[in-house]
Amino acid sequence: MQSENTQPVIAAKKLTRIYSLGYSEVAGINHLNFEIAAGELVVLKGESGSGKSTLLSLLAGLDRPTSGELTVADHNLTRASATDLTHFRREVVGMVFQSFNLMPTLNVLENACLPGLLAGKPFHDIKSKAMEFIDWLGLNSRLTHLPAQLSGGEMQRTAIARALINDPAIVLADEPTGNLDSRNGQVVIELLAELNRKGKQTVIIATHSTLADALATNKITLKDGMITDEIGSGARRCP
Ligand SMILES: Nc1ncnc2c1ncn2[C@@H]1O[C@H](COP(=O)(O)OP(=O)(O)OP(=O)(O)O)[C@@H](O)[C@H]1O
Ligand SMILES: [Mg+2]
Repeated sequence: MQSENTQPVIAAKKLTRIYSLGYSEVAGINHLNFEIAAGELVVLKGESGSGKSTLLSLLAGLDRPTSGELTVADHNLTRASATDLTHFRREVVGMVFQSFNLMPTLNVLENACLPGLLAGKPFHDIKSKAMEFIDWLGLNSRLTHLPAQLSGGEMQRTAIARALINDPAIVLADEPTGNLDSRNGQVVIELLAELNRKGKQTVIIATHSTLADALATNKITLKDGMITDEIGSGARRCP
């Protein structure tokens, strides 16, 4: 629970992303006001087209708001320079996608290490940290496999190792179980929940599935780019 004196790890004020299509405009998200406390496991719900991916892209620094304010882990993403955003994406957030997005020519260990090496960290440190995550994720026997030689669940666990390699404060997952069967989907959700519990990372999972509902400490529901409801104390709507 967020105490009165604790700064939220995410704060959005009138956060808006309008997509301009030349002849018309679509509000991906529309004047969102909310805060998320550090350490929450938030499930992000809403029908297709409700704005979940748009919101995660803004939180990840992959996209910029059209208007409004967004602060994530003390980084003002509304005013960040391109260089600040590159650092932010690499060091502050870890992203997990439905389609895994692994580098096809790199093996499991190399995929897991890549963001650490791009951040300029020593190879020895990054490799030993990647090996710890790979062990935790049950991928020891797949170290030298290329993505094409992995199952969907193994690819997603590799993507989780990659997302964690730079010790991000926040892990964002966009439909992480969308390409997995229910057993592997459950494993991935439980791993993200364990990460949240033990690593204390703030985790936000956008999903149509109910797999994360019982583990989430909070919920935000979007409809037509706006928040319709949320439960719990941390992800609270602001006036
Ligand atoms: N690049 C884009 N250009 C124009 N409109 C877009 C773009 N990306 C998203 N949209 C629109 O913004 C709205 C929100 O899309 P978004 O992808 O965030 O929804 P979603 O909740 O993630 O949906 P899904 O559950 O299908 O993944 C939709 O109306 C969509 O058509
Ligand atoms: Mg989406």
